[in-house]
Amino acid sequence: MPPETVLTARGLVKRFAAPAGAPIEVLAGVDLVVRRGELVVIEGPSGSGKSTLLNVLGLLEDADAGEVCFADRPVSTLGRGAKSRERGRWLGFVFQSFLLLPALTALENVLLGARYTTGVDAERRRRAMALLERFGVGERRDHHPAQLSGGEQQRVAFCRAVLNDPPLLLADEPTGNLDDANGEVILESLRARAREGGAVIVVSHRPDAAHGAHAVYTLAGGRLRPH
Ligand SMILES: Nc1ncnc2c1ncn2[C@@H]1O[C@H](COP(=O)(O)OP(=O)(O)OP(=O)(O)O)[C@@H](O)[C@H]1O
Ligand SMILES: [Mg+2]
Repeated sequence: MPPETVLTARGLVKRFAAPAGAPIEVLAGVDLVVRRGELVVIEGPSGSGKSTLLNVLGLLEDADAGEVCFADRPVSTLGRGAKSRERGRWLGFVFQSFLLLPALTALENVLLGARYTTGVDAERRRRAMALLERFGVGERRDHHPAQLSGGEQQRVAFCRAVLNDPPLLLADEPTGNLDDANGEVILESLRARAREGGAVIVVSHRPDAAHGAHAVYTLAGGRLRPH
């Protein structure tokens, strides 16, 4: 069983150099604790730093100050290789822009989730196919991303992120390209993950994303404010 506290972030600060003038402080001291069984929703205006925050929490970008812990273990200070092992062990990531590999089919993209961790075996392939079916893209398994609609790509990206059943799922607008029905299937799957003991942080503006959420925050002025 993973420990109770899955993610702790303390005092995260992130600045970006501006083309002219002073750097922009996108995160100005973000604190966040997420435990097993919790679904946390983050809202906020475009440009407020939501994707930046997920990237920092997911160890894809370094903060300028502050700390990220997985299960109370500081991970933001680890070296590159160790960080990537921690990511493989803890995280599933649904990117706002999907980041599917263009040369791979839908099924192969989903299996990427296993390639660097458990390895791809018959069981993983079965699970990948079951996920594609569940999210309505099973018949697109052999299509490349360029042959998929935006919403289909989004669903394939979601399947990839959950293939390994990560203790923590970070999802950046995972329903942004979907109609209500397909969006609801994804949201219900997020709720189910939390109910089953996983932890989920989702960036979403859909009002129904907050249904069943343990906490809803707005990111504004570089800080998270609880609703
Ligand atoms: N690599 C970068 N270099 C410079 N500025 C950046 C960089 N990445 C993001 N920013 C800036 O940081 C701010 C926050 O960007 P971010 O993508 O986190 O916003 P967001 O809340 O996810 O917005 P959206 O809802 O539109 O996806 C923006 O003003 C953006 O221009
Ligand atoms: Mg974003």
